[in-house]
Amino acid sequence: MTQPLILVSDCDLPGTVIEDTLRQAGLRAERSASGAIDDLAALGADAEGLVVQWAQITGEVMDRMPKLRIISRVGIGYDMIDVEAAAARGIAVANTPSYCIEEVAAHTIAMIMTQARGLPAYDRAVRAGTWKAVDAQPLAVRPSTTTVSVLGFGRIGSIVARGCRALGFRVLVADPYASAEAVRGAGCELVEIPDAVAGADILTLHVPLTDATRHLIDAAALATMRQGAVVVNTCRGPLIDEDALAASLRAGHLGAAALDVFAGEPLAADSPLRDLDQVLLTPHAAWYSPEALADLPVHAAENVIRFLAGESVPIVNPTFADAR
Ligand SMILES: NC(=O)c1ccc[n+]([C@@H]2O[C@H](COP(=O)([O-])OP(=O)(O)OC[C@H]3O[C@@H](n4cnc5c(N)ncnc54)[C@H](O)[C@@H]3O)[C@@H](O)[C@H]2O)c1
Repeated sequence: MTQPLILVSDCDLPGTVIEDTLRQAGLRAERSASGAIDDLAALGADAEGLVVQWAQITGEVMDRMPKLRIISRVGIGYDMIDVEAAAARGIAVANTPSYCIEEVAAHTIAMIMTQARGLPAYDRAVRAGTWKAVDAQPLAVRPSTTTVSVLGFGRIGSIVARGCRALGFRVLVADPYASAEAVRGAGCELVEIPDAVAGADILTLHVPLTDATRHLIDAAALATMRQGAVVVNTCRGPLIDEDALAASLRAGHLGAAALDVFAGEPLAADSPLRDLDQVLLTPHAAWYSPEALADLPVHAAENVIRFLAGESVPIVNPTFADAR
């Protein structure tokens, strides 16, 4: 019997761990020349599984792969996959929810503390030959008089919230689906999103990117924020209107930002964010550690192997089974 074919649409991780893991399980594995629909359809007409990192997987792509049963995202966010279109076609979508939770939470807290204590400005000042704790920069907060607002109290946001509490910050949480008891149990206060935004000295985002959350932080939301507030985003770039963010920073309304994710990646060479000293930039690296890099492709391949074997995997569109 011919073994099921699994197509890898795209993946920027080094090596061929996904294909190797699939083949070791006895499946056939091919990598597409690109994530473009015609390339996917050319190799994937018989594919029963699709492993995706950044390629846009629309209903139209799925229709060109009529045998598809499972789409496995190489990562946690799955905003590049039309999960409802998949459910309507009886196709399961799985992600890799656990490979980098600690890393993203740690990166976020590092970004919060770097900006809240003004480390880049101190660093620049020392290198420029000055030695002044007080005059070098204005932003160096005391945690117990500073409010961190965490949007999204899921796997990552809840660790960030607990970490900030442990450091002494007051922590507001906004998450329409969070249990009030769990938020209170973490020593945090559950509020509505506008109150979290307006009440933040430091705002950090941990919600999935969907039509409802795209530009959640737009010019109007930024205008409600406190003078000198800091915005941290290790989640998804399009959650923030980047032009409005840059304008607010340039105007001196926001005090600083720390960004790991952007509306377009890699960040454009002419992005205004590059010219702002008060913005800390990292290259969508919050997930990275050698351990996470080792786990990610294996988890993504194992989701396909387990699903085809009838075992349980982290499915993000459980209604897919209704269309089967
Ligand atoms: N920068 C990186 O390297 C990196 C790595 C992994 C994940 N991420 C991003 O982090 C995101 C969060 O990951 P997670 O594992 O914590 O996800 P999660 O699903 O555990 O948590 C998301 C939380 O957001 C809440 N939520 C949904 N809609 C909301 C809304 N409109 N307002 C407020 N809260 C809302 C949900 O109730 C949930 O509690 C992912 O979707 C991904 O985009 C980034």
